[in-house]
Amino acid sequence: MAKAYDFIKAKGSNKRLVVLTAYDAPTAEVLEKAGVDMILVGDSVGMVLLGYPSTVYVTMDEMIHHAKAVRRGAPHSFIVGDMPFKGIERGPRQALISAKRFIREAGCNAVKIEWREDALSITDLLIENKIPVMGHVGLTPQKVRVKEGFKVQGQDAAKAIEIFRAAKAFEERGAFSMILECVPAPVARVITASLKIPTIGIGAGADCDGQVLVFHDLVGIFKKFTPRFVKRYAHLDAAITKAVARYTADVRSGKFPAKKHSFGMKQAEWIQFKTRSRHEG
Ligand code: KIV
Repeated sequence: MAKAYDFIKAKGSNKRLVVLTAYDAPTAEVLEKAGVDMILVGDSVGMVLLGYPSTVYVTMDEMIHHAKAVRRGAPHSFIVGDMPFKGIERGPRQALISAKRFIREAGCNAVKIEWREDALSITDLLIENKIPVMGHVGLTPQKVRVKEGFKVQGQDAAKAIEIFRAAKAFEERGAFSMILECVPAPVARVITASLKIPTIGIGAGADCDGQVLVFHDLVGIFKKFTPRFVKRYAHLDAAITKAVARYTADVRSGKFPAKKHSFGMKQAEWIQFKTRSRHEG
């Protein structure tokens, strides 16, 4: 299994890092088989699977539940647990407890922290406790108000330099990699060139050291909104709707289950059962 340091060593090689989210065992199994470099148990689970209007409602218990499932499905993969707002809102001490749960209870290899006022104190404490940290700058969904929506960050120089400084600060404190979300491609290029740790982009152009997408966006299951940076590689929602409609029609018409989906029993047992059931009313 890869270690956090391996990702830093790989920086500068021609190999682009492939990262995807997973929240359950079967998906994690597919990602491991497909050979992704890293699996992120994102707090996007809140919107994608749990039906919350934003990621800030996700609890630490919910994250651990999903992270454990991902580890069961992908025993050999490098897994990052995404620190949810509710697991971090009270500051560094709470963040340490949450991060330890990801590592000890769920078997994650690292945790991810979105940029916030105390992100650096949290990073210091986690690194002191030997917990690898991935930073997340640019668009940080935990700060997005539902009504405002998800907007590109850093299109003006002042904001771009803020994002640049946040990324540099995370690196200086010992982060091993950096998510760049929804920032202009030229800004991501400069940050990537300036950091010694790999950048993983989502809506940050092609010059990052790797890319991440939400699995459900990639396969076309999550359709509430589709950010511009998403490329769909399948349209499973249509396939699933069609399958469920066929199942519904088959059950209603009596076509399913057929004989091959059912079980029989030995004739002698059947006769005995019939007689006894008649006696018992
Ligand atoms: O929660 C998540 O899935 C994320 C990715 C979009 C980077 O933070």
